[in-house]
Amino acid sequence: MEPKTTVLITGSNRGIGFGLTERFLVKPSHVVIAAVRNPDHPTAQALHNLPTGLDTELIVVKIDANIEKDAHDAITELQQKHTIGHLDIVIANAGVAYIYPTVADVKIEDIKAHMQPNVYGVIALYQATRELLKKSAQEPIFLIMGSSAGLLGNHLPIPNAAYAPTKTALNWYTRRIDAENNWLNCFSIDPGHVSTDLGDAAAKAVGIGDHAPTTVQESCDGIMDVLAKASKKEYGGKLAVFTGGFHEW
Ligand SMILES: NC(=O)c1ccc[n+]([C@@H]2O[C@H](COP(=O)([O-])OP(=O)(O)OC[C@H]3O[C@@H](n4cnc5c(N)ncnc54)[C@H](OP(=O)(O)O)[C@@H]3O)[C@@H](O)[C@H]2O)c1
Repeated sequence: MEPKTTVLITGSNRGIGFGLTERFLVKPSHVVIAAVRNPDHPTAQALHNLPTGLDTELIVVKIDANIEKDAHDAITELQQKHTIGHLDIVIANAGVAYIYPTVADVKIEDIKAHMQPNVYGVIALYQATRELLKKSAQEPIFLIMGSSAGLLGNHLPIPNAAYAPTKTALNWYTRRIDAENNWLNCFSIDPGHVSTDLGDAAAKAVGIGDHAPTTVQESCDGIMDVLAKASKKEYGGKLAVFTGGFHEW
């Protein structure tokens, strides 16, 4: 029997992470590992009520991206309690963006508060999941949620001194993780400007209205299409766009 495709998604209780979790859950013969900051929160509990495809199962684990050992503890729990022996896709999605200051005004503590989950949390997740990704029978994928906010070539003309640099840093890690592992397809994806709590707050902050222009449905459908066709040869080390194609860094 073919092993089930096993997918781990962080920040899966809301926004884009929730949309991706929903989409993987309705596929047949998958193990969907929904990583959440608080498994007891109603938004995490609600994951158990989502429809699932034939022979597909949901496992909810705790990973707080602000706590370095959480990803390692979650992997130990997955191996020991749920006999998870491999991972095929890991999606580093959890992230925060809650202020849009200039560089002159940003507080160092706010930069740290964005770097911690958005960058250090992704590195801890990569380090914790790497050995299980190596055991995939497919070409495994480590997908990082990127953003046009982090672009240097096409620099967006908005103050964003706490969040945007976290996505720029992730661009480097994307390139490097992909380069250091010839067996792993590591790439980033720009999900668009998506109408989630984070995306709508950004829309208000930059004065383009109450809602971001892209729906969660459009974004997640696009990301699923990209994931279905993404090979390391074509996507590895790059920043893809949810509609297809790639950004220059
Ligand atoms: N929306 C956009 O326009 C947009 C554009 C480009 C990139 N992105 C990226 O896409 C990703 C998802 O964003 P979103 O728009 O879906 O945001 P969202 O609706 O605000 O959801 C954020 C998710 O991240 C989780 N999270 C935040 N801090 C965490 C922590 N310390 N530990 C674990 N989980 C944590 C949240 O969990 P809680 O419910 O526990 O807070 C929630 O599940 C982020 O990396 C973001 O930077 C979004």
